[in-house]
Amino acid sequence: MQVFDYSYYQKSAEYVKSVICDTPDIGVVIGSALGRFTDIIQNPVVIDYSDIPNFLVSTVKFHDGKLIFGRIGEKNVLCMSGRFHLYEGYSMAQLSIPMRMFRLLGIKKVILTNAAGVVNADYCPGDFMLIRDHIKLTSLSPLTGPNIEAFGDRFFDVSDMYSSSLRDKALRIANEMRLSVHEGVYMYFAGPQFETPAEIRMASILGADAVGMSTIPEALTAAHCKMQVLGISVITNMAAGIVPAARLSHEEVADTATRIAEDFSEYLKRVISEL
Ligand code: HPA
Repeated sequence: MQVFDYSYYQKSAEYVKSVICDTPDIGVVIGSALGRFTDIIQNPVVIDYSDIPNFLVSTVKFHDGKLIFGRIGEKNVLCMSGRFHLYEGYSMAQLSIPMRMFRLLGIKKVILTNAAGVVNADYCPGDFMLIRDHIKLTSLSPLTGPNIEAFGDRFFDVSDMYSSSLRDKALRIANEMRLSVHEGVYMYFAGPQFETPAEIRMASILGADAVGMSTIPEALTAAHCKMQVLGISVITNMAAGIVPAARLSHEEVADTATRIAEDFSEYLKRVISEL
C-alpha cells in the first residue's frame, strides 16, 4: 500500500504557494466537461499539474489538467480544471493529494462539482443537485493507512460533511436564479464502465438520487481535515436502464454539460461570491 507522509503533501503546496504568492479563500474542483467555467476567473495564474511536485496528471478526455488561481468577485479562488479518479489507475491514497494540498494552502471551504447520471425520476438532464449525503459501497477510502494527525483524527464524523450552511446558501442562490435544483444523495461507483441497469435499480432502492465516479474520495479527504464541502452535481444523463434501450456515452455527458455551461458558470460565480 502506498503511504504518503505530511511532507509529501507539503512539497506540492509549497510549489503552488511560491507561484501564486497569495492565499486562496476557496477551492473548486471542476468536473467532466464543465471546464468552461474557468474562463470567468479574473487575473488567472495557470499551473500545469505536471509542474507540481508530487501531484498527479489528468488522463481523461474533457479534463484539462490545470490548476488556476485568480479572482471571482471579492474572492481568491484556486480551481482544479480536471480531476483524478480511481478508474485512471490512481489509488485512493493518491486521490487524497489534491484536497490535502488545498488544506495546506489555507483553504477551508471547497466546492466539488461533477457530472452525474440520474436515478431519481423527478430529475432531468440539465438539472443541478446539491449533494446532501452520499453512499459508497466500496470499502476503499482515501483515509485508509496510517493516520496523519496534523490533518485530522483517525475516526471522524461525516454526518454533516456536506455542510448544511453552505448548501442552504447555494439552494437560495439557485432558487433566486430560477435554476432547476434538487438536494439529493450521490452514490459513488468506481467505473470506468457505466453502471448496469440492475446496479441502478439497487441504487434507487438504497435511496440514491444520482450516480457518478468521482467527488467522494475528495469529499472524504476534505472532511477529514475539517474543510467545509459543497457538492454540486450537474445531471447529464438518465442512468442505465431508466430509459429502456437507451445507451450511455461520455459524449452525451459532455453534450449536456456543454448545453448548461453558461448557467453553470453563472451559478458557480454567484455561489463563490456569496459563500
Ligand atoms: N454513471 C456514472 N457516472 C456518470 C454518469 C452515469 O450515468 N453520468 C455522468 N457521470
